[in-house]
Amino acid sequence: MNTNWSDHIQGINTLFLSRQLRFDDHFKDQYLPFFSLDSEKKLRILEIGCGPGALATALHRWYLNAEIVAIDRDSAFIAYARERVPGVTFLEGDATSLPFDDASFDVTISNTVSEHIEPNAFYGEQMRVLKKGGVCLVLSGRKGIHHRAACLEESEYEKAFWSKIRDKDHSMETYQVCKYPQNEQQHPALLSSMGFSNVSTGYAILDLTPDDPKYPDEMSLGMIEAERANDIDAILSVRRSLSEYVSRAEEVEMLRITQEKFDRRIRQYFTGEKQWDTTVSVTMLLRGEKL
Ligand SMILES: C[S@@+](CC[C@H](N)C(=O)[O-])C[C@H]1O[C@@H](n2cnc3c(N)ncnc32)[C@H](O)[C@@H]1O
Repeated sequence: MNTNWSDHIQGINTLFLSRQLRFDDHFKDQYLPFFSLDSEKKLRILEIGCGPGALATALHRWYLNAEIVAIDRDSAFIAYARERVPGVTFLEGDATSLPFDDASFDVTISNTVSEHIEPNAFYGEQMRVLKKGGVCLVLSGRKGIHHRAACLEESEYEKAFWSKIRDKDHSMETYQVCKYPQNEQQHPALLSSMGFSNVSTGYAILDLTPDDPKYPDEMSLGMIEAERANDIDAILSVRRSLSEYVSRAEEVEMLRITQEKFDRRIRQYFTGEKQWDTTVSVTMLLRGEKL
């Protein structure tokens, strides 16, 4: 049972809530024209490194005739996704040794996974399982913009907590997070060098601003709750990874402060006290074909 990612890097709620937003139908035109897949066809689509399943869920909605299979190494993500997303096959497995036959998929897709896996293995396996004429889609996060609401600023207690463990957390190196980053020029060139043809690139740029009236309440609250989940998971992860530096009492206090701040942010949303906090999320999109 492998739960390294969900225990030490990003928790289930952090990933599921943030990705559910990014792959909301509101934004689907940012992706579908670029993907350029025939939605009438019975495509067999494989999502690699699916986490708790938000993209697979969106693909299931967007490509009604497709069969969606999704794989991840983290057992907790797969268990969560299986329970919540009917109609998609979720499997535990390794992207560097995919448990599928050669030429068995029309499409492979991944979101924020390519930077964590050795490229020859990552793309080599996709090339192997894709059919002739198949499409490899890669979504890769770029630096965006994040302005927090004033009411979410760190208190002195929180600043002291984070500064205490700042140099002690080595989870990123231990679990090889972001070991293989590709810049904007390198990434498409890498796909070509791995044998993919007609490589194209694009960007999905999403503005996530809870106070913007163009968003329905459900989405605006989703944005605030995604940020809350991120902060809560960060505290829980620190306590799991660095229990010798963080006491249970400190963890409880940090969780209390965080919940209180986000409860206040939600109240401000409902009373119309605009904060105009915003996240601009930038995702590079890559598409290559196996000819
Ligand atoms: C940044 S998370 C992204 C998860 C998901 N794509 C999303 O956007 O919510 C990276 C994911 O890659 C998975 N992963 C990393 N290395 C892997 C490997 N060799 N095989 C399968 N999954 C892997 C992790 O378990 C994690 O779920």
